[in-house]
Amino acid sequence: MDIIFHQKEKIFQINTENTSYLMAVADERYLGHLYYGKRMEDYHGFYLLRTEEKPFVPSINLREKSAFLDAFPQEYSTWGVGDYRESCLNVRNSDGCLGCELLFDSYRIIDGKPALKGLPATFCGESKGKTLEITCVDPVLSLKVILRYSIFEDSDAIARSAEIINESGQILHIEKALSACLDMDNEAFDMITLNGSWGRERRIVRRPASLGRQSAASVRGESSHQEHPFMALVTPGTDQTQGEVYAMHFVYSGNFMAMTEVTQFDSLRMVMGIHPDNFDWELKPGNHFQTPEVIMVYSDEGLGKMTRTYHDVYRNHLIRSPYLHRPRPILINNWEATYFDFDSDKLLDIAREAKKAGIEMLVMDDGWFGHRDNDDSSLGDWFVNENKIKGGLKKLVDDVQSEGLLFGLWFEPEMISPDSLLYKKHPEWVISIPGRVPTQIRCQYVLDLSRPEVVDYAYEAVASILRSADISYVKWDMNRQLCDIGSTYLNRKNQGELLHRYTLGVYKMQERLITEFPNLLLENCSGGGARFDPGMLYYSPQIWCSDDTDAIERLAIQEGTALVYPLSVMGAHVSDCPNHAVGRVTPFATRGHVALAGTFGYELDITKISDEDRAQVKLQTAMYHQYNDLIREGDYFRIASWQENHLYDCWQVVSKQKDETLVTYVQVLSQPNFRSRKIKLAGLDPKGVYKLEDTGKIYSGEMLMNAGFLIQRKMGDFISDLYHFKQINC
Ligand code: GLA
Repeated sequence: MDIIFHQKEKIFQINTENTSYLMAVADERYLGHLYYGKRMEDYHGFYLLRTEEKPFVPSINLREKSAFLDAFPQEYSTWGVGDYRESCLNVRNSDGCLGCELLFDSYRIIDGKPALKGLPATFCGESKGKTLEITCVDPVLSLKVILRYSIFEDSDAIARSAEIINESGQILHIEKALSACLDMDNEAFDMITLNGSWGRERRIVRRPASLGRQSAASVRGESSHQEHPFMALVTPGTDQTQGEVYAMHFVYSGNFMAMTEVTQFDSLRMVMGIHPDNFDWELKPGNHFQTPEVIMVYSDEGLGKMTRTYHDVYRNHLIRSPYLHRPRPILINNWEATYFDFDSDKLLDIAREAKKAGIEMLVMDDGWFGHRDNDDSSLGDWFVNENKIKGGLKKLVDDVQSEGLLFGLWFEPEMISPDSLLYKKHPEWVISIPGRVPTQIRCQYVLDLSRPEVVDYAYEAVASILRSADISYVKWDMNRQLCDIGSTYLNRKNQGELLHRYTLGVYKMQERLITEFPNLLLENCSGGGARFDPGMLYYSPQIWCSDDTDAIERLAIQEGTALVYPLSVMGAHVSDCPNHAVGRVTPFATRGHVALAGTFGYELDITKISDEDRAQVKLQTAMYHQYNDLIREGDYFRIASWQENHLYDCWQVVSKQKDETLVTYVQVLSQPNFRSRKIKLAGLDPKGVYKLEDTGKIYSGEMLMNAGFLIQRKMGDFISDLYHFKQINC
């Protein structure tokens, strides 16, 4: 790991263990992007800026300045003076004109990584890090932009962000401030994004990057079910093990935009940052604006290596929770078991039966507060409904604990129901446009978290309950998207700040929560997985993946999620059948195997399932304890995808020492007249000798990886198996 400035050639060189990133200061101080890719020691790539290819240097040919700006590989693009490609920074001056041009000013290289105030961001943790800060200026606006690039000793990821500082005497308006830009030549790239919907989050979508602009974006006030703040460009033929991958992932939970633009010259620009729609930040003289950060990863060994780089950088440098490296208590959540129809007796029945099966925590989901018996009331009224929870919350928590289980609780702190005491008292706390009846989604409005007193109220509502009883876990939900973007708190000229201020308000509340309750296990959630993003991971070590708990649907959801997120963060539960989202019936064992690739837990009425299923719960909770260390800490390999082959799914987790591996195989559809299937394992020690636990048979790592392992044919659909190999010659 190193960052060097080659003074003579004016080239910045960032080297991680396997990658290099080069930038150069070109004529007239334009900062250009030279190279991102496989690690190189040589840095003499100035010619790649093509500035000698006439007529493209302004001082030589001022009449063609736009031709220069519109083709030059910009390190951080700006809008308004002749580069017509997608910009990163749009600034309006006090005369109302939009235009900005950045020139290199200075740089510094520092040890470590500065925190980004108020924002989730990667940190050095136990390894060393370095940060390059490049300062650029717009002399006309007296605007300063600090571009930051941080790297870590144990990672190939690069964390990028920009800080914008108004050094002028005039008020400036930032109308767009993205976090990262990558200008490259197009190499017939495919673009990979994660798209979906409620119950179908984060499916992998691949399409050619073609001329013009293609994006992944959210303007819903959260990272969303529909699109995901991730984009990768891959060279033709890229698969799990081969091909070049350039990926960006955004550490942010609000509106975002990722954009790829293929230009007239077959060059390509990829950008990522806060979505510019409805964004307008007033920057007073002397004020700073900090963008959230983008985590960039390059891999020359296909998607698999990109995946493992993201998994490791998030486990080592983003998730702060003390639970990160601990097995999480196996929980049972009453949502699919009872929905709103429960009371403390019912919950205690579930707790008793759960305890017998090895479950460790009961989570009381939505419906315990105010007069909420369905989803049309009481959000904001965070006091327990004693008609349901007899004797109060503390009594229930104590009773559950005396049954030997921990207790967890559901909240939705950012919301307010029109039918609530809070709304009667504070209608002005709702995000809304004056004169317009705000649109309800799921019968609820959103609290205006740009107001400091609302953040305080919502935080105290949660915290005072946590102070009142011994609650080990919180599921923090957010069940609607934002619209009617208006605040009675903000001035006219600051309304464009509301969406970002809302996200900052969420971060402020979660920061306070984990500071005041450092041992709390926090799970974020948003109508399933609509706010499953690296921003939330900074506060919670796990996020509920999807409201669709069907084992087969989950294969695709979890495959897409695991493309960038470690298995240890994916909230996954075994639920009852027919499945509530799709009506499918799958074997109980398959449901267990699929949930095992996540945090693992239950979402069913254990008092009502069959004796056979109940007996399986006992086996599954033991299975969780046997494999969780490996699944939580190991390297993940995607072996086969039923999204591609339409028949079977297979993934593998290998311990960092390569002395153990767990293979999960799901036969989604059975076929007639078929023999055993050969699959090639990955990530093992080729010289290792491995014993398959079930049969005692011995295999070499080399054979398993190059020739393959035989999976015997199974009769029936949706059938799964685990294969656990241990190295015996180490
Ligand atoms: C969201 C969550 C569910 C459940 C409900 C409760 O949809 O994803 O798991 O908590 O809210 O209303």
